Amino acid sequence: MLVYDYSNLIEENIGKEGISSNFLETNKGLLQEIDNEIKAKRQDGSFGFMELPFHQPELNEIKKMASDARKKWENIIVLGIGGSSLGAMAIHQALHHPFYNLLNAEKRNGYPRIFFMDNVDPELVQGILDVVDIKHTLFLVISKSGKTAETLSHFLFFLEKVRKQGDPIKQIIIITDPEKGPLREIARSEGFLTFSVPPNVGGRYSVLSAVGLVPVAFLGIDIDALLAGAQAMAKRCETIENPAYLFALIQFLFLQKGKNIHVMFPYAQALLGMADWWRQLWAESLGKEGNGPTPVKALGVTDQHSQLQLYMDGPRDKIITFITVKDYGNDVFIPHSFKDFPDLAYLGGHTFNELIQAEQLATEVALTKAGCPNGKFVLDNIDAFTLGEFIYCLELATVSCGLFMGINPLNQPGVELGKRYTRALMGEPHFQEEKREIETLKCV
Ligand code: PA5
Repeated sequence: MLVYDYSNLIEENIGKEGISSNFLETNKGLLQEIDNEIKAKRQDGSFGFMELPFHQPELNEIKKMASDARKKWENIIVLGIGGSSLGAMAIHQALHHPFYNLLNAEKRNGYPRIFFMDNVDPELVQGILDVVDIKHTLFLVISKSGKTAETLSHFLFFLEKVRKQGDPIKQIIIITDPEKGPLREIARSEGFLTFSVPPNVGGRYSVLSAVGLVPVAFLGIDIDALLAGAQAMAKRCETIENPAYLFALIQFLFLQKGKNIHVMFPYAQALLGMADWWRQLWAESLGKEGNGPTPVKALGVTDQHSQLQLYMDGPRDKIITFITVKDYGNDVFIPHSFKDFPDLAYLGGHTFNELIQAEQLATEVALTKAGCPNGKFVLDNIDAFTLGEFIYCLELATVSCGLFMGINPLNQPGVELGKRYTRALMGEPHFQEEKREIETLKCV
C-alpha cells in the first residue's frame, strides 16, 4: 500500500523551516471544505478523471484489440504531446525493461517496440524513419482536441508514408473526443478505428482513459490491475486523511512559506517517467494568476551528483519529495574484489538494492540535518496496481492543491495562447488577430 511519509517536514525534525506537528488539526476545517468542493465537482462531472477507475465503456474493446495486435506489429508509434503522451510513456517506462526497445521480439514476449513522437524537431521526425519499417508499424494518433499542431503535423507526415507503403485503415488508430474536432471528423470520413477521450477529462488527467490505456495495453501491460490500483486509492481518498490530500495540503503550506520549487526525486530509474508526467500535471494545473510552484524532476542517485548541492545548500526555496521503493524485484550483487582497497572492499557482498536504498537514506538524512523539508512516497514495489494507486493519488493531489490555492486546476490558458500563436505564424487564416498581436509585440 502506497504511503506518504511527512515526518521530515515537521518542525520537530527539521527545525524552523518545518510545519507544526498539529498542522492537520489546524487545517481540518480547510480540508473539509476542499473535500466538499471535490465531492461536488465529482458529482457535477467537472472532475471526470475521478470516474475513470470505475467507468470504462471501451475497456473490453481495448483489451480485445490489444490481444489481437500482439505479434502483429513490430512497432507502435504514439503521435501525441503533453497529456496525450506523458502518461503512457511513464507507465511503459515504469513497468518494462529499461532497454525495452533494444530487446528482441522474443524477450518482449512478442509485443511491439514503442516510440513516442512528442516533438516536431525535424531531426527526430526524419530519424525515426531509419529505425522503423513503416509497413510493420501501428500509429496511435492521440489528441483530445484533435487540433494540436504537433500531433496533426506528425499525423500528416506519417499518413503519407503509410499510404505509400502500407494500409492506413489497419495501421492508424485515432484517440480523440467522441463527437467533435477535426480528428474525429477525419476518422469518420476515412474509416479509421477510434477510441474516445471523455469530454470532461482534461488532457493531463487522461492517463487512465483510452489515452494512456490503449498504448500500454498494446504492450501487454495489465490495465485491469492499473485500474484496480486507482480504484483502491479512490476508496482510500473517501476519508479526509488520505495521501492525496496530505501531499496537496503540505505542498500548499510550504508554498505559502515561500518554498515554490517542488522537487520530485524518485530513487528508481523506472519512475523517472512518472516524475516527468507529474511535472506537467503540477506545472500546467497550478501555474496560474502569477502564482504556483515550479516542479522539478530529479533522479536518484544520478542527480545526487548534479542537483543535490543546490538543494542542500542553495536558496531555501525548495521542498523535496522522494519516491522510494521497498522491493526492486531483482537482487543484484556487487562482487567482492580488491580486498586490500577499503574504498572498494566495503561494497563487495552488498546488493545494488542496498546501495540505492542507502544512498536515498543518506540523502534524506543529510537534507534533514540541513533543515531542508523533505517528504516521501513509499511504494512497496513497481507494478501496475501500485502505479494505478500513485497516478490517482497525484491527480487528486493536484486538483486539491489547486483548490487550496484558489485557482482552476483544469485549464491551461497559457498553453492555449501559445497554440494560437503557432497557428497564426504557420498561416492559419482564422488567426489574424493573433497575427496582429505578434506583429505589435515585435517578436518577429
Ligand atoms: O493537459 C493538457 O490539456 C495539455 O497538456 C494537452 O494534453 C496537450 O496540449 C495536448 O493536447 P491535445 O490532446 O488536445 O492534442
